[in-house]
Amino acid sequence: MSPADVLIDCRDAALTFGRGPNAVVAVHGAALRVHAGDRLAIVGPSGSGKSSLLHLLAGLEQPTSGSVTWPGLSGLRDIGLVFQGDSLIPALDIVENTALPLVLNGMSDDRAREAALSALALVGTADLADRLPEEISGGQAQRVAAARVLAQAPRVILADEPTGRLDHATGGRVLDALLTAADETGAALVVTTHDPAVAARLTARCTMHDGRLTSADSTEADAAHSLGEPS
Ligand SMILES: Nc1ncnc2c1ncn2[C@@H]1O[C@H](COP(=O)(O)OP(=O)(O)OP(=O)(O)O)[C@@H](O)[C@H]1O
Ligand SMILES: [Mg+2]
Repeated sequence: MSPADVLIDCRDAALTFGRGPNAVVAVHGAALRVHAGDRLAIVGPSGSGKSSLLHLLAGLEQPTSGSVTWPGLSGLRDIGLVFQGDSLIPALDIVENTALPLVLNGMSDDRAREAALSALALVGTADLADRLPEEISGGQAQRVAAARVLAQAPRVILADEPTGRLDHATGGRVLDALLTAADETGAALVVTTHDPAVAARLTARCTMHDGRLTSADSTEADAAHSLGEPS
């Protein structure tokens, strides 16, 4: 792999919340490279630091030590993050929420709406287009958050437990949509999950435990691919 293929380079990045006796180390020096075409699962229990790590990769949090850089991206807009928690804007209906990043990027309202409706259909939520976020379920909101990223067609998709609030069949459909989108656009896909069945559908796996990231794949080649030591 040439260095140009590295989209996100996370070198020994740590993230601590709070100070002094109340400090919580959410991520201990994590080393991870994300390349174009990667399909990586990050598996770990609740509180192990998965969301914190994704927020570092997305540039939403600054590392307390170490670094995160994006050598192969032209900006953080190339990254789409499917948030784990509520992330929809209450005053906008579902199609407006889904189209918003496109409109902010300069796309016309009509084209953005069309792209948003296609993305909503991919995760089975097109019929919710005219509702407000308060009028849909938590699992439906999670699917809309995925659609909002699919509509953007980013070069890196970071999906934070995208199936966490979904039944098996619906979760499978969302994962299908993410995998298909990544295949079609050549995007990298990083998915956090508690669910081994979800992790099994990605091609590489890491585990997160008490803020420590390790490769869960058995072969050296896989480990070297995803968990590169800084060179
Ligand atoms: N803003 C914050 N302030 C203080 N502590 C935080 C903050 N966000 C997360 N933490 C702590 O950091 C640790 C890692 O949290 P994180 O949300 O990254 O875990 P997670 O693996 O995503 O958990 P889950 O599976 O429940 O989503 C936890 O101990 C959590 O309490
Ligand atoms: Mg989380």
